[in-house]
Amino acid sequence: MKHRKRILTGLTLFAGGLGTGVLVGAVPAPGRIAQPIPADSTVSSIGSTLPVGNGLALTPPMGWNSWNHFGCNVSSELIRETADAMVASGMKDAGYRYVVIDDCWQVARDSSGRIVADSTRFPEGMKALADYVHSKGLKFGLYTDAGRRTCQGRPGSYQHEGQDARTYAQWGVDYVKVDWCNAQGLDAPTRYAVFRDALESSGRDIVFSICEWGSNKPWKWGPETGNLWRTTGDISDRWESVLSILDRSSQYWASAGPGAWNDPDMLEVGNGGMTNTEYQAHFSLWAIMAAPLMAGNDLREMTADKRRARATRAILTNEEVIAVDQDSLGVQGRLVQNDPPELQVWAKPLADGSTAAVLLNRASVPTPIAVSFRSLGIKTDSASVRDLWAQEDEGTFGRRYSPMVPSHGVVMVKVTPKG
Ligand code: GLA
Repeated sequence: MKHRKRILTGLTLFAGGLGTGVLVGAVPAPGRIAQPIPADSTVSSIGSTLPVGNGLALTPPMGWNSWNHFGCNVSSELIRETADAMVASGMKDAGYRYVVIDDCWQVARDSSGRIVADSTRFPEGMKALADYVHSKGLKFGLYTDAGRRTCQGRPGSYQHEGQDARTYAQWGVDYVKVDWCNAQGLDAPTRYAVFRDALESSGRDIVFSICEWGSNKPWKWGPETGNLWRTTGDISDRWESVLSILDRSSQYWASAGPGAWNDPDMLEVGNGGMTNTEYQAHFSLWAIMAAPLMAGNDLREMTADKRRARATRAILTNEEVIAVDQDSLGVQGRLVQNDPPELQVWAKPLADGSTAAVLLNRASVPTPIAVSFRSLGIKTDSASVRDLWAQEDEGTFGRRYSPMVPSHGVVMVKVTPKG
């Protein structure tokens, strides 16, 4: 990136492609810096204030969450086996770290108000379980609710935020997902800020995942509050669900950046409700949106030498697609071509000056899609194209690239300007 501008003491803005840039430097403390960031012909305006967070999740968090596959059927045994499988399946090597127990691990509060885990399902307790997960080089996460009860009726954290954050820190929790059921009459930005401050005071680095389903415009206050925020209601294991979440979550692309991500919900790859072509598209679209990559399948099945396990592994561990999601520039990709509407191109600028693109065919027949390099922000006469699923270089092209794209599928490429 050639263009750069010092915008305030300690920070320099480097201009990127597609009206983006990176700020490099150091500020004295987390919070919000009310410093207008100037725009000029070489450096785009990026907003009037600059949020500076807890320093965590500088790239979208990667891991696994129990909800999509197991619902309330969680236990110590499942979490230990999942941690083992995360290593054995190659998921850990691919970058997945957080093992997160969703709803139903908690049953009550004791006489001092301390949250109590289900002793039948988690006989060893959460500290010992967290220690086991950590012993595998992985990180441990839990779920709670900012309201009075969780969505499954377990005790919520309302008015116990400080106590719960301290308990989590004692147990060795690295990630907390905070839901929004049973919160009638409460104000989401206020309650989630209380939770953020409680985590901040706990003395432990804990990634903060906000889950209020986009009900209170979290893309506006999420960046100064949490590391990720859900933008929609729950995903289901169907192609229509993937498309409807894509269409909503993508609108808020400008709110995402290092440490603060739109969360279009956990992955369904490997759960059986879609074709492998659709799962490949689902994963590609989450990567181009710089979404958190939280697997939602049974990881224990992934180690099998069976066709389905192999297909799931090939999707969830494709390092070139994951690298797009995890790119350090931290820009969420967006829709750049939509004509006709079933044939779309989504583009994400990358730190090395190249652009990743997903060519998405929403129609029911295979169709070629022509991606114009100009729509990717590429100004040179030609560019080289690498297919990230085939993992092969396709050659150098002038102005556009027009592969055949399967129905309900994608071609995902990295386009690097030449000359
Ligand atoms: C809500 C959330 C889901 C899951 C369930 C658990 O629906 O959006 O992701 O956590 O609650 O009850």
